Amino acid sequence: MDDEIERFDQPLKVLLVGGSSVGKTCILRRFVEGEFPNKCKATLGLDFKIKSMKIGQQIVKMQLWDTSGQERFRSMTQAYYRGASGIMLVYDVTEENTLTTLPDWLGDITNYAPEDVEVVLLANKSDVGEQRVVSKEAGEEFAKEHGLKFFETSAVENINITEAFTAMAELLAKKAKLKETPDNVNVTAPNGKSSYEVSQQAEKKSGCGC
Ligand code: GTP
Repeated sequence: MDDEIERFDQPLKVLLVGGSSVGKTCILRRFVEGEFPNKCKATLGLDFKIKSMKIGQQIVKMQLWDTSGQERFRSMTQAYYRGASGIMLVYDVTEENTLTTLPDWLGDITNYAPEDVEVVLLANKSDVGEQRVVSKEAGEEFAKEHGLKFFETSAVENINITEAFTAMAELLAKKAKLKETPDNVNVTAPNGKSSYEVSQQAEKKSGCGC
């Protein structure tokens, strides 16, 4: 049967973290809802959405947590690193300080997230043209130095958004595959679903007024 797939029902927790206004909420909404939000207020606290992706013969269900980049919520966010399988670390190519403070975020990840957490670095707002102050090379260099996968993204123009989440899902699928047991494999795919996206469901937890 060619549509027999492996499904990992337990959602894997993936956090979006990074400085305030780098575009975390817009990236998440672009990915989950397929559009750029007209209006977006700062995230107050945390909010999550669920999305499943088919990676090869595996379905990876991700619980995607949007966090606030505001300093006053930092300790709250730190509590959510616990149990995270993946972290999308985001900076803004129009704000140099969002790049220079990345080591602080990596410090939090080291201190509060599981040791084997997967981290993908996103340089957002790559659509801006002359407002750019951080070169692609600077981001690539930082990513290389820290062994991170790197994407320049634009939530506005939908550049590399799916690619970045696919890369994360692939990293998680690879790891889940290594840990798989006979109990969580061989679940048949829902009829008629052939694309990589097999289910989509959004849930609001708190805060974001978008
Ligand atoms: P906090 O909730 O404060 O942590 O912010 P955030 O990181 O979730 O940022 P948010 O998604 O709210 O976006 C902040 C601002 O950046 C908004 O005005 C967005 O319209 C804008 N923005 C987000 N993504 C992009 C992008 O890809 N390109 C451009 N040009 N602007 C963007």
